[in-house]
Amino acid sequence: MKSSVIAESGKLRWIVLGRDPDRNPQVIDTNQYLIVADGQGMLLDPGGIEIFPRVLAELTRHLALDRIRILFASHQDPDIISSLPLWLDLNPEAVTYCSRLWTGFIAHFATGKDARMVGIPDSGMRIGIPGSSAQLLAVPAHYCHSSGNFSIYDESTGTLFSGDIGAALLPDHEAGLYVDDLRDHIALMAGFHLRWMPSTVALRGWVARVRALSPTLICPQHGSIFRGAAIAQLLDWLDSLEVGQWDDGAPAAAGKRVAA
Ligand SMILES: [Fe+2]
Ligand SMILES: [Fe+2]
Repeated sequence: MKSSVIAESGKLRWIVLGRDPDRNPQVIDTNQYLIVADGQGMLLDPGGIEIFPRVLAELTRHLALDRIRILFASHQDPDIISSLPLWLDLNPEAVTYCSRLWTGFIAHFATGKDARMVGIPDSGMRIGIPGSSAQLLAVPAHYCHSSGNFSIYDESTGTLFSGDIGAALLPDHEAGLYVDDLRDHIALMAGFHLRWMPSTVALRGWVARVRALSPTLICPQHGSIFRGAAIAQLLDWLDSLEVGQWDDGAPAAAGKRVAA
């Protein structure tokens, strides 16, 4: 697994961990994001149980394990947070933040541990990393794709973690870390968004909230990070989608919508 610093401001930095050439080919590739602020850590979408050993090995090159103060789950999927019991084995003091809808479900991953969980209210909240001055904003992303879903925004660097929004399924030879121009990237995102995003209204609401934040990076849990012109292009493309439609003829209709 590789890691790169993607944003920095004062004593706060964002690190992406992923692009593991040795991962089990059966598992979908994921990006894990670590925020380190004043030597304290918050891990965003820590990942599946399958990749835990390699995330752990790469993470500890940047931060001691006992400095991980917060585990954040954008939603409940196994590729997001099934590694929870392993993190809690090594660091039982870490606090897990997720939508209030999912605390009782994610606790099923705890395997007997006393998971310290905070349910984020639907309207979002500020999350402070203990021992640091960092304040992250949990931005509502409900139904994008999960019914209780949050993005994380860091005002100090303009970095937005978007979870599954903006996700792309990359062939290994196109696994660039950044997207600067969306044109060739849309084909890698379209199928995922049309099938996994259930609500056009919710997706457009998220786009409006994100436009108001004016992020300088948008960081999805799968695929490449959006920067520069690709940010506005991504938001425009998401705004143009009509998602959450499926019937026997849906795949062809969906293709036409994307092309248009
Ligand atoms: Fe998901
Ligand atoms: Fe995902």
